[in-house]
Parts: sequence; structure tokens; C-alpha cells
Amino acid sequence: MAARAVRSWAVALSLLWMSGVALVAKAESPGASQGAALWQKFGCANCHRLGGAGETVGPELDQVTQRRPRDWIFRWLGDPASMKPGTLMPKLPWQAGEREALIVYLRQFAVPVDGPAIVMEKGRTPEAGEALVKAYGCRACHQVGTAAGRPLYPDLTIVRLRRTPAWEKSWLANPDAIKPGTFMPDFHFSEGEIDAIAAYLFRPPVKGGKTR
Ligand code: HEC
Ligand code: HEC
Repeated sequence: MAARAVRSWAVALSLLWMSGVALVAKAESPGASQGAALWQKFGCANCHRLGGAGETVGPELDQVTQRRPRDWIFRWLGDPASMKPGTLMPKLPWQAGEREALIVYLRQFAVPVDGPAIVMEKGRTPEAGEALVKAYGCRACHQVGTAAGRPLYPDLTIVRLRRTPAWEKSWLANPDAIKPGTFMPDFHFSEGEIDAIAAYLFRPPVKGGKTR
């Protein structure tokens, strides 16, 4: 009896110890706390949502490290207007090493997406497309149905009124080939993912209101 109690205490203690290690590892991932301090100092949350907090002037940034290469983000932070003339995002006085730390901080919020696995499970169906739009965070920029989106970017609820599925598929395959310099990211989708997203966006609206 006593031996069992001791054993379960040992298990409880080692679990406690392991969760402590996990917490320390997250907080001390090099640069992340410096990145968090810079996020505060530069007031990024006045324009961006991250981890459920912040304003909605610019895109939500939870998934940004999934949709943009690291070097792209690095250059963007250094001089936004050189990449998108007229953007509201200000050029900030970064010190050496600070942009790297900020990117480490951003990366902590991203959830990796396995798009091909979603298509494998659900087929090239509107349901798969809906799941992909959610997982990749298209709503960081686009309104789709009644949910989220920024007025800066096209509303995808009505994309079927403006575009054909064929156009939309070549757009998703390589936006920059259609519109050089566009701010729309290249997600490097597989063909199956593109078909599924097109099936979702071009699904006929349901009569009497809510479509998606
Ligand atoms: C005054 C508002 C404003 C502030 C402050 C601001 N941003 Fe932005 N940011 C924007 C806007 C707007 C965009 C989208 C670019 C566009 O369409 O003009 C953007 C885009 C971005 C992007 C690219 C997003 C994507 O999905 O491609 C990143 C990354 C980013 N900002 C990070 C930051 C960080 C980090 C800070 C703080 C250091 C910050 N921003 C401060 C307005 C702002
Ligand atoms: C960082 C912001 C951003 C994200 C995230 C984003 N887009 Fe876009 N998207 C744009 C911009 C900007 C345009 C307009 C292109 C232009 O005029 O340069 C656009 C255009 C489009 C268009 C064409 C709309 C039209 O009517 O012309 C489609 C379709 C589209 N995006 C789909 C998607 C899908 C699907 C996702 C998610 C997988 C996504 N976008 C994620 C910024 C974004």
C-alpha cells in the first residue's frame, strides 16, 4: 500500500517536472521574449490581431509564418512600402537582431497545415475547401461568408460573380504570374487543394441567406 502511494507520488512529481520543463522551453525559445517585448514596444497590436488580441487594420498574423517565407517577412518588416507602395504599415527603427526575434515570436502562434491530408480525407469537395480556407487562415485577409476579413482585400463570398473557376485555379496556383508584385501570398498548393478551394468558393449560394 505504502509502496504504491510512493510510486504514484513519484509519477505525479515527474509529470509536474516535465510540464515545468515544457513551459520553460516555450518561454525561453531564443528570441521569443525579446520578440514579445518588441511587439509591445512598436504597438503592432494597434493594427494586427495575434493570438486573439489586437486590432484589425492589417492582416491577422497567427498563420503568417506559414504563408510567407522567413526572408519575405524579414524584408517586409524592414521596409514595408518598398514592397507595397502606399501601405499603412510604418517603417520602424529596428536594431540589429530585433526582426529575427520578432519572427521567432510570431512563429509561436502558427499551427502547421497539412493540406494534402485534408484533401485525402475529404476529397476535392467544398467541405475540404472550407477546411483549407480555415486552416490556412485566408480570413486573415479575406472576408468569406460573414466571417472576418479586411476591407483592404477582395471579399471572397462573391468571387463567383467576378471570376470563373478556371481563372481562380490559375490564380491560386501562382498569383504573381497573373499579377506581378501582388500582396496575395503563394501558398504552393497541390492541385487537389486548388480544386477543393474552388469547389468551396464557387459553391452555389443557399437560398434565403447564410451561404457558408
Ligand atoms: C498602422 C498600422 C500598422 C502597424 C502599427 C503595423 N502594421 Fe503590419 N501591416 C499593416 C497593414 C495594413 C498590413 C498589410 C499590408 C497592406 O495591405 O497594405 C501589414 C502587414 C504586415 C505583415 C504581412 C502580413 C501578411 O499576411 O502578409 C506582417 C508580418 C506585419 N505587418 C507585421 C507587423 C509587425 C510585427 C508590426 C509591429 C512591429 C506591425 N506589423 C505594425 C499595418 C500595420
Ligand atoms: C496576406 C493577405 C492575403 C491572404 C492571407 C490571402 N489572400 Fe487572397 N488576395 C490577397 C490580395 C491582396 C488579393 C488581391 C490581389 C491584388 O489585387 O493584388 C487577393 C485575391 C484573391 C483572390 C481573387 C479575388 C478576386 O475577386 O479577384 C482569390 C480567389 C483569393 N485571393 C483567394 C485566397 C485564398 C483561398 C486564400 C487562403 C488560402 C487567400 N486568398 C489568402 C491577399 C491575401
